[in-house]
Amino acid sequence: SRTAVVIPAAGRGVRLGPGAPKALRALSGTPMLVHAVRAMAASRAVSLVVVVAPPDGAAEVRTLLDEHPLADLDVTRTDVVVVPGGATRQESVRLGLAALPDDVTAVLVHDAARPLVPVDTVDAVAAAVRDGAPAVVPALPLADTVKQVEPRTGEPEPVVATPERSLLRAVQTPQGFDRRTLVEAHEKVAVEGEGATDDAGLVERLGVQVVVVPGHEEAFKVTRPLDLVLAEAVLARRRA
Ligand code: CTP
Ligand code: MG
Repeated sequence: SRTAVVIPAAGRGVRLGPGAPKALRALSGTPMLVHAVRAMAASRAVSLVVVVAPPDGAAEVRTLLDEHPLADLDVTRTDVVVVPGGATRQESVRLGLAALPDDVTAVLVHDAARPLVPVDTVDAVAAAVRDGAPAVVPALPLADTVKQVEPRTGEPEPVVATPERSLLRAVQTPQGFDRRTLVEAHEKVAVEGEGATDDAGLVERLGVQVVVVPGHEEAFKVTRPLDLVLAEAVLARRRA
């Protein structure tokens, strides 16, 4: 029984602006994906990482990873496999799951776009799955109040409701799962369902209980240009 990580890294990064695929862009000189792989390999619980590359970029990603070996904090040996991804995040995760060897019983799914997640967060998610939770997500309380609206373009949007903020959580990755539960969730939605914006959302539809553990500020997702500024600042603070 092993714990593996699937890292979806096949996105274009449209919201970040023009350039290379987001996961391949540099953060303080090192590709975002390399930071993400190292963050996962830093966990003793993790012995295999499956990187899901842009559909036409698997060879390039393989080369890139070979040029950036895992840091010496890789206390347990971590194997890194690269597979080509799909047109949506969900499809990319499914392709990553299909590459897992038989002896993997627990899976973490981690966005390449969250390169700075601390190892303690990874360990906490992995431990909760090993302790028997079928689905675990790290999350934080919200700073902003959230409104539900009737979407409109080019005019003010009517507010429909204001959910109570103290009951809401902003969800991050790595999300951890019993392998069979996650595979079943992905298979089911591929056959009959609508997509979801995270993996736990698919598992919820199976009627399986998902639980939340504390997330971390540094597990934020690099989505827009300002997030690059923040990521560089976090790395500079770590070096200081
Ligand atoms: N992802 C993926 N395959 C896709 C789309 C997204 O593997 N077809 C991955 C991204 O590479 C990223 C993660 O899913 O690591 C979270 O997605 P997001 O932050 O939305 O990244 P992008 O889709 O690349 O960005 P954007 O939506 O701005 O284009
Ligand atoms: Mg996206």
